[in-house]
Amino acid sequence: MRRISLSRFLIEEQRNKHVISSELRLLIEVVARACKAISIAIGKGALADVLGGAGADNVQGEAQKKLDVISNEILLEANEWGGHLAAMASEEMELPHPIPNRYPKGEYLLLFDPLDGSSNIDINVSVGTIFSVLQCPEGMAPTEQAFLQSGTRQLCAGYAVYGPTTLLVLTLGDGVNVFTLDRELGSFVLTQSAVKIPADTREFAINASNNRHWEPPVKRYVDELLAGKDGPRGSDFNMRWVASMVADVHRILCRGGIFMYPLDAKTREKGGKLRLLYEANPMAFIVEQAGGAATTGRQRILELEPANLHQRVPVILGSKNEVERVAAYHAG
Ligand code: AHG
Ligand code: MN
Ligand code: MN
Repeated sequence: MRRISLSRFLIEEQRNKHVISSELRLLIEVVARACKAISIAIGKGALADVLGGAGADNVQGEAQKKLDVISNEILLEANEWGGHLAAMASEEMELPHPIPNRYPKGEYLLLFDPLDGSSNIDINVSVGTIFSVLQCPEGMAPTEQAFLQSGTRQLCAGYAVYGPTTLLVLTLGDGVNVFTLDRELGSFVLTQSAVKIPADTREFAINASNNRHWEPPVKRYVDELLAGKDGPRGSDFNMRWVASMVADVHRILCRGGIFMYPLDAKTREKGGKLRLLYEANPMAFIVEQAGGAATTGRQRILELEPANLHQRVPVILGSKNEVERVAAYHAG
């Protein structure tokens, strides 16, 4: 079998397809290297004393896990010195992290959720890292304002899943590719290209404990699925909820499905649960690149104009025909 490493894949994308610059290639290689380091830290677990709480809250008022803080630091340190970035922003930091003056600066902005699904860390269930890359607008200082760009402007997005295997899923706006970490070699190897999400599915993912808070269109949609063969859909549907967005989205990438964290009475004030710039946008980009769809219920996620760095939004994404049905229920 001919093995294509992430490095070779990126060099060929740059050389033959001209879809990335050498600085963007470096950026992706550095993020991938950071994900390897995060994967190693997670893999050691209690042996390295990395489980449990960090004893502090992040900017969103959520209790940080030790591994939230460690993953954030790994990504910051890895990306500071390469000269490819103007600034970074993270779920775990209130404000963008500027590149220190002792290092050269580049033209890209990197956003990340360093550890997604961190409530699953202590129970040994899959977690991940989500990232998104934007260009810093010309002549603009890399402050919060520079990051407030719609998802359609992403140059690259990806996620790592730290599961039974560590995977890196990547889009450069030219389809979706999956790389598996070869732990002996320490390198990511291309294991799936041009991934496509089936347009139809019989599987859905939603935290059903929020049922009583949902809006009527979501209630109607889920009720119809639950009614199964005897209901209006005339078919039985299966449900899965990992509570790590990366793991739920990855399942959908592999075999189809619909993921929903919709607007509900509980999160209405905040605008939703998931964060637009480093959760919803990168996942929406990947899902669309794989032939799926991503909406808030009312609008295509990638077209939202962000108002602030940590903005939250409703998220409904996955198999196209199901996502479009939920959007139609919202419109009706
Ligand atoms: P994070 O760990 O980065 O804060 O994200 C957790 C998110 C997402 O991964 C997951 O889909 C969702 O929160 C789970 O929410 P519930 O606990 O409400 O099910
Ligand atoms: Mn998250
Ligand atoms: Mn997180």
